[in-house]
Amino acid sequence: MSERREPPWRLPTAAEAETVMPPEIDTTKPHTARIYDYMLGGKDNFEADRQVAAQVLQAIPDMQNTLRLNRQFLRRAVRYTVRRGVTQFLDIGTGIPTAGNTHEVAQELAPEARIAYVDHDPIVLAHARALMAGDGRGRTTFVQADLREPEKILSATEIQNVLDLDKPVTLMLVSILHFIRDDEDPHGIVARLVDALAPGSYLVLSHASLDPNPQQGAEGAAQWRNASSTMTMRSHADILRMFQGVELVEPGLVSDWNPDGEPDEPGLSLANVWGYGGVAVKR
Ligand SMILES: C[S@@+](CC[C@H](N)C(=O)[O-])C[C@H]1O[C@@H](n2cnc3c(N)ncnc32)[C@H](O)[C@@H]1O
Repeated sequence: MSERREPPWRLPTAAEAETVMPPEIDTTKPHTARIYDYMLGGKDNFEADRQVAAQVLQAIPDMQNTLRLNRQFLRRAVRYTVRRGVTQFLDIGTGIPTAGNTHEVAQELAPEARIAYVDHDPIVLAHARALMAGDGRGRTTFVQADLREPEKILSATEIQNVLDLDKPVTLMLVSILHFIRDDEDPHGIVARLVDALAPGSYLVLSHASLDPNPQQGAEGAAQWRNASSTMTMRSHADILRMFQGVELVEPGLVSDWNPDGEPDEPGLSLANVWGYGGVAVKR
């Protein structure tokens, strides 16, 4: 007999899932957040997610390294903008928490940092309690919303309660825009969000790319099928066009973004990276 529980839930183990998972979270269908969690070595995933992950990794074995580099990019970019005085974050495409999430990295340097996380997937909502944890000096909130509706995100009361959008904010679009199809206008979505930011705000953006081998990239992206989102890997030029109305900081849109010369995390390779990250400032 299935049992409905109100959020926030504890994420059940795989064995418990069939009896306690809320009905809107279907563990037999692959979810983007859980596929990603599996590729990063997390435990919050199910057989359907692991099958998609295995197929993507078969087509693009270096994808796991790329995803780990992406997490390193996220952490570096958060530190970069906090060091330049921006302590408010709008992080869209939260994912399932791993170590070193935006609020943890930001609040380590600036305990008063405020973070609004946004994700459209109920599975991520199930983890929201972990994201809310903090030492009470800053604030963290989680909003379930869709990147394809930027106006709804910007006007959400929960976000306005935590962030002052009249002051600089770091907008994080990290490893999410490849889940927006061309016909959903990813460039226009970024432009609408950037337009709402105060001067002095930052855009932190990373994106999967097929540049190392377009045919292999297309095959890998095609494996991300039947999941909660499809994947569109793009070229450097296409991703660069997302930085409109903002000024890229050095070193630009690159595979190994490291302006402060931090050491790479152990075991990472800089060869064959299937993605780029960049940080830009709004003047
Ligand atoms: C690959 S994870 C990235 C997590 C984190 N930003 C990182 O880079 O480690 C992508 C996340 O974006 C979310 N996502 C995908 N499409 C979305 C959409 N249209 N609106 C909101 N969230 C979305 C997924 O549910 C998933 O949690």
